[in-house]
Amino acid sequence: MTSIVILISGRGSNMEAIVHAAQKEAWPAKIAAVISNRPNAGGLDFARSQDIEAAVLDHSQFKDRASFDAELIKLIDSYSPDLVVLAGFMRILTGGFVKHYAGRLLNIHPSLLPLFPGLHTHEQALEAGVKEHGATVHFVTEALDHGPMVIQASVPVFPSDTPDLLAKRVLKQEHVIYPRAVRWFIDNRLTISDNRVLVSPPELQMLTSTDK
Ligand code: GAR
Repeated sequence: MTSIVILISGRGSNMEAIVHAAQKEAWPAKIAAVISNRPNAGGLDFARSQDIEAAVLDHSQFKDRASFDAELIKLIDSYSPDLVVLAGFMRILTGGFVKHYAGRLLNIHPSLLPLFPGLHTHEQALEAGVKEHGATVHFVTEALDHGPMVIQASVPVFPSDTPDLLAKRVLKQEHVIYPRAVRWFIDNRLTISDNRVLVSPPELQMLTSTDK
């Protein structure tokens, strides 16, 4: 049974998608806890409604990043996770944190990495005038929004798009690729080799959506 801890900061729709997939497909996994760095994160209510332990570690109560991350490690490790899933966890993590969970820390970023790291990715995509945009699930390394990519999904960008419309289109694909990536991890199908993630047996690691 794979033990998973999910970290959120807000709405938690990716966490929800993972929880629903785990239930629907009867994953050999347990979501041991959902942890938020914000006390009012909407996703906490959903976790509680599913009888998943929901914990808060408020970053604003810590004097610096290192002391917050040290406490966060303690809290996460109290659930002995095999996998830590960042699902809209809007904190830059220290090198020590990332090293501690090396090879078992996944993140989703709302762009086709390596394009548009950082914040406001949908605005960045519209400003750049790209014709496709998307999302990426990747293993976390010390470089922000980099690290071996597990799966990506692309969506078209239309001339009439706003950041909100684009965000919605991308989010729908996030809810497809994140559960899939977590399932691959649970099933031991992922290996990292030279910054590449291989899935065995092979499966498409790039989805192309034509949804409007
Ligand atoms: C998602 O779009 C996720 O990709 C993004 O935050 C949103 C969280 O939504 N993450 C990042 O920007 C991380 N750099 P959710 O709380 O509904 O899952």
